This record gives sequence, structure tokens and C-alpha cells, in this order.
Amino acid sequence: MKAIFRIRRYNPEKDKKPYWQEFTLEDVLPTDRVVELLHRIKWEQDGTLTFRRSCAHGVCGSDAMRINGVNLLACKVLVRTFARDDAEEVKIQVEPILGLPVLKDLIVDMEPFFSHYRAILPYLITSEPPPADGRERRQSPQERAIFDDTTKCILCACCTTSCPSFWANDSYVGPAAIVQAHRFIFDSRDQAADQRLNVLGAPDGAWRCRTIFNCTPACPREIKVTQAIGEVKLAIVRGVEHVRQQKIADLKETPAPEE
Ligand code: SF4
Ligand code: F3S
Ligand code: FES
Repeated sequence: MKAIFRIRRYNPEKDKKPYWQEFTLEDVLPTDRVVELLHRIKWEQDGTLTFRRSCAHGVCGSDAMRINGVNLLACKVLVRTFARDDAEEVKIQVEPILGLPVLKDLIVDMEPFFSHYRAILPYLITSEPPPADGRERRQSPQERAIFDDTTKCILCACCTTSCPSFWANDSYVGPAAIVQAHRFIFDSRDQAADQRLNVLGAPDGAWRCRTIFNCTPACPREIKVTQAIGEVKLAIVRGVEHVRQQKIADLKETPAPEE
């Protein structure tokens, strides 16, 4: 099939403002990924087209883009998402994710995003010495299950840059930072939950989330982002242990997956 791309272009060295440019590709397959087609445009038609990508397998989180109005990883989305397999033509619009300054074409400045990430102390903090037997710090499968979902985050920013609260006020830490905080707040080996909850209880913390829910469907890792934010809000109000006990009770009620 034929693919008609409409791409948001911007080169700060020569453009006063961003503009749209069209490219046409022939012989596109329904199973082609958008990142491959962007490569074809760059390699066959316009070498100046600029976009971030690295792993091409949905792991590094570097190629988040707004594709046909939705935040997606270009390496995970197939052409058949936007057209039937027997269609003669597909139209694909690509623009940078919203809410972060555009540096060039599809590349945004991720520093404001990572500054919010650093603010929630995204690493294990404990004054306990490691076990004397030389093993790692252990925890039970149940203790691990409490924050399993939020360990899957690849910091792609699809959630934060789909959040209207973040668009309105980029001082808001955003859903990705809260997901990363959740991963450590509920880790039984960590001792800095109070420090993180202080950051998230401040005016630009978790309460700027108005439960709009854009973030959850935007997550390419299918993390229950809004649920994690809700658990962090509850921990601010009722304490970490309250949420932990509630989650343990929920896990007991969840049937084990079939063998
Ligand atoms: Fe990306 Fe999901 Fe992590 Fe948000 S929570 S940064 S969408 S992986
Ligand atoms: Fe934004 Fe998600 Fe909350 S879209 S308002 S962070 S539920
Ligand atoms: Fe790594 Fe797409 S290039 S997630």
C-alpha cells in the first residue's frame, strides 16, 4: 500500500516556527512499524529528518511520538493499526509529544521530565547494612508483588505528555515520576518513603492529578498508572502500611494464573 506521512518539522537554526511536511512511501506493508518507515523517509528522501530511537524493540523508551493524535512508541506500532490490511493507502501523522520544548523535528527536551523523576529519589535508600552472608537484600514474593507493576516503567514519557494537568502546569511532577516513586515507596527494603511522600504531598505533587486517566491507556507497558497514583495519594493520607495491607488482601483474593 501507499503511506502518506504528515510530519511536524522544526529546525531552530532556520525555522521561525514548526510546520507540516508530507512524504509519500510506496510498497508499505501492514506489518511495517512506523519507526522503519521514518527510517525510509530519512534514508531515501530527507536525511535531515530528526527523531530519537535506539532499541527498536519497545525497551529503551526513546521513540515516544504523537502518532495520529495518540502517544505511542514508533517501534511498537504497526501500519495495520491505522488501515485495513487490504487498504490501498494509509495516512499517518507524526508530531512530537506535547508539553516539553521541541529541540528539532520529533525530538523534545527531556530534561524537565527527568528533573521531576530525580525529585522523587528513584533509587533504593536504606541505612540497613547488606546481609552478612553476602546475598542480596531479600523479600518475599508477596512483598515484591505489591509494586511489581510499577517496576515495568521504561521512562518513555508517554503518560506525562498525555496528561492535561501537565500540559497546563509543567511544575506538576507528572504520572511517570509518581509511578517511579510508587516502585520504591512500597518496596519493603526501602526506608525513604516519607521523603518521597513529602515531595508528592506538596502542591506540585500527586494532588495535581485530577484522575483524567489519559496516562493509563498511553502507557506502552500497560502499567496501571492511575491506580498507582491513587495508591500513592492514599499513602499520603493513610500511610504506606495501610495501602500495603490493602494490597496484600487484594492479592490474596486474586486467583492464581492457570498452569
Ligand atoms: Fe512510559 Fe508507562 Fe513509564 Fe509512563 S509509566 S513513563 S508511559 S512506561
Ligand atoms: Fe493526568 Fe493521569 Fe492524573 S492523565 S490527571 S496523571 S490520571
Ligand atoms: Fe526503544 Fe522504541 S526505540 S522503545
